[in-house]
Amino acid sequence: MQFGHFDDQKKEYIITTPHTPLPWINYLGSKDFFSLISNTAGGYCFYRDAKLRRITRYRYNDCPRDSVGRYYYIKDGSTIWNPGWKPVQTELDSYCCRHGMGYTVFESSKNDVAASLECFVPVSDNCEIHRLTLQNNTETEKELDIFSYAEFCLWNAADDANNFQRNFSTGEVEIVGSTIYHKTEYRERRNHFAFYTVNKPVCGFDTSRDSFCGTDSGLAQPQTVLEGKSHNSVAHGWAPIGSHHLKVSLKPGESTSYIFVLGYVENPADDKWEAPGIIKKDRALKLMEKYSTDAQVDAALKELHKYWEKLLSRFSVRSEDEKLDRMVNIWNQYQCMVTFNLSRSASYFESGTGRGMGFRDSCQDLLGIVHLVPERARQRILDIAATQFEDGSSYHQYQPLTKKGNADIGSGFNDDPLWLIAGTGAYLRETGDFSILQEQVAFNNDETKAQPLLEHLRRSFGYSCAHKGPHGLPLIGRADWNDCLNLNCFSSEPGESFQTCSNMESGKAESVFIGGMFVKYGSEYADICEHSGFAQEAAQVREQVEVMRAAVMDAGWDGEWFVRAYDAFSTPVGSHVCNEGQIFIEPQGMCVMAGIGLKEGLADRALKSVQEKLDTKYGIVLLQPAYTTYHLNLGEISSYPPGYKENAGIFCHNNPWISCAEAVAGHGDRAFEVYRKTCPAYVEEISEIHRTEPYVYSQMVAGKDAPSFGEAKNSWLTGTAAWTFADVSQYLLGIQPELDGLRVNPCIPQSCKGFTVQRFYRGAQYNITVDNTAGVQKGVGQLVVDGVQMKENLIPYVSGKTEYTVKAVLGACE
Ligand code: BGC
Ligand code: NOJ
Repeated sequence: MQFGHFDDQKKEYIITTPHTPLPWINYLGSKDFFSLISNTAGGYCFYRDAKLRRITRYRYNDCPRDSVGRYYYIKDGSTIWNPGWKPVQTELDSYCCRHGMGYTVFESSKNDVAASLECFVPVSDNCEIHRLTLQNNTETEKELDIFSYAEFCLWNAADDANNFQRNFSTGEVEIVGSTIYHKTEYRERRNHFAFYTVNKPVCGFDTSRDSFCGTDSGLAQPQTVLEGKSHNSVAHGWAPIGSHHLKVSLKPGESTSYIFVLGYVENPADDKWEAPGIIKKDRALKLMEKYSTDAQVDAALKELHKYWEKLLSRFSVRSEDEKLDRMVNIWNQYQCMVTFNLSRSASYFESGTGRGMGFRDSCQDLLGIVHLVPERARQRILDIAATQFEDGSSYHQYQPLTKKGNADIGSGFNDDPLWLIAGTGAYLRETGDFSILQEQVAFNNDETKAQPLLEHLRRSFGYSCAHKGPHGLPLIGRADWNDCLNLNCFSSEPGESFQTCSNMESGKAESVFIGGMFVKYGSEYADICEHSGFAQEAAQVREQVEVMRAAVMDAGWDGEWFVRAYDAFSTPVGSHVCNEGQIFIEPQGMCVMAGIGLKEGLADRALKSVQEKLDTKYGIVLLQPAYTTYHLNLGEISSYPPGYKENAGIFCHNNPWISCAEAVAGHGDRAFEVYRKTCPAYVEEISEIHRTEPYVYSQMVAGKDAPSFGEAKNSWLTGTAAWTFADVSQYLLGIQPELDGLRVNPCIPQSCKGFTVQRFYRGAQYNITVDNTAGVQKGVGQLVVDGVQMKENLIPYVSGKTEYTVKAVLGACE
């Protein structure tokens, strides 16, 4: 069952009912100011940091769900309705919500009044724009009352939800004409404030939530709106809001628009201080002026469309499969940008008050966006590297506002260092910009300890070399990619839970998965060394890689698949000797991607085991058999009921690893099968089972052991986006950036006749045609670049050349 449909021309998903299984959201904002907006207009916004600079408030886990947002109430006689249906929930005569690239539009009608609410964040300003257009489609004149609503958060969203004894007394606002300023904490010489304005004169306002709603009423039946009259309340403490009251009379057929701007302003920190509590408004006024006419809003929307057109034109495919094209050309890349911007911080599953930027998450996110925004990727790499410690380990997370490592979480996740090589390698292969390696980057944000980025990579690799366990495999530390595999977590105290285990970092548990990473990213590091003129170091690194490869093939091979790990007692995890958790997905994907056991037949055997033991109709589960009881020596993983999350859920993030691995092994049919099973556009028809948005990936789909098999959770902010894009663009369609240029090496289903790709790469446009009339799954027989036949399938990079016409013919060459 579907709740909407794709419009590929407009790059939109059109939701045709407010009754979606879960709130289906979109993100607005592309740089510093971000918003979440659901298909019933719920959500919130913030500046750069969802925790520390929250502009509007959200109530999580609420009932009814998703019941805070920026709302517009239309009072038409005794009928009150909202263009997004919520919060009043008056049945609408028509409704649709169009989620597009950085904008959301609601189009609805009631009693022959049509409303359109266009919401977006302009490309280069820190504000949300909401344009409300109303049209009277009746034969008589209409008198309408419009009320707006936005609830301010008191900046630090965690504190806002906690510290009421203080917060109930700090809220301050100022009202000037049609503008409501939210200036809580400004008197502490903060240099930031928010405002909410409308481009027409108001006939009233409210800034106190209690006054707007009435003490015993909520947003579904606010007193002000019921009465049809604002109270002109001025908030002193408690819950400051912004609400405007506008009156409009529309002749038959007439329409009118209102432009609301919800903005954030930061004055220079050393700005002259006039008097406590008096805000300097010039920047805010400029912003209001900039978006005060329809023509200006049209122009800003056009700029936004252009921004996305341009970004998305950097990689596009045309194939026989419209779902594939839709995901590759639009939604997968869009989600990659969102995950890059927000890491795992703010979604309808992440409160924004917890995690900031994850070290491993952000490194992996780079894989999906280096081709889109290389200059921003560059900066991100430098920011991430600055949270690394001198021994090569790193903070696991950092706060986007301060860019400082998060001391509460600390370090000790032993896969982290190698992900820095993964992200940097992707950047180098995309851009060829080796100058980044010379950038001086602090350790632990201490500038006095700055070293070139290359030294950071060296220490990343060095950390893994220096932390090996009894089998010569990397020590896992607190956990590796699988945050819930806490293998150094044991205790003689009955009932002790995994959080309280004391020696998570110091124990000797080992990870085969990190072993796979070591081989893959160690080899990439060796290539980087070689390209940077360090041939000797490259050779030493390769030696280390071979030692690790041997350790993985020896202690990491279980007979039919790769072992997952060894716990603190050196007992294998993810082996046939275990009762539960005999086989895990992660090492099968990573080790095969690294090429381990490819020649020896282990790779094929491992992939076959995955298919036999882990595959389901909705994707590949993380492990089997699921853990049915809690095992302290394994940690958080067995705290989940069977079939959920890391305990045998379909973790979408590592499904593409298997698809990539199948491609490495040359199995195009199977690689695509794996790709399609979790791909949103392909499961759109079962939205009532899948439940999350059919245009983006979710982190997890409940596995076959779960009662809700097939139900997805944690949509949007997941490494699945970047990895799937890497999979489909590089491994399946096979357009592979390398340090020396683009390689064409597709792995596709036998039945696929071919496709074309438009790829922008290092300043040039590549028009690539892949011809598979031979009906093979892999293997370029012929590569012709601008009429010249090449000796291999690498397109030689010619500096200054701006266009390449490339034809790749699959199958044995004549
Ligand atoms: C989740 C993981 C997540 C981790 C973050 C765990 O509870 O299961 O998926 O990575 O929390 O700390
Ligand atoms: C989500 C986390 O963000 C990610 O870092 C981790 O790898 C996966 N969960 C698996 O535990």
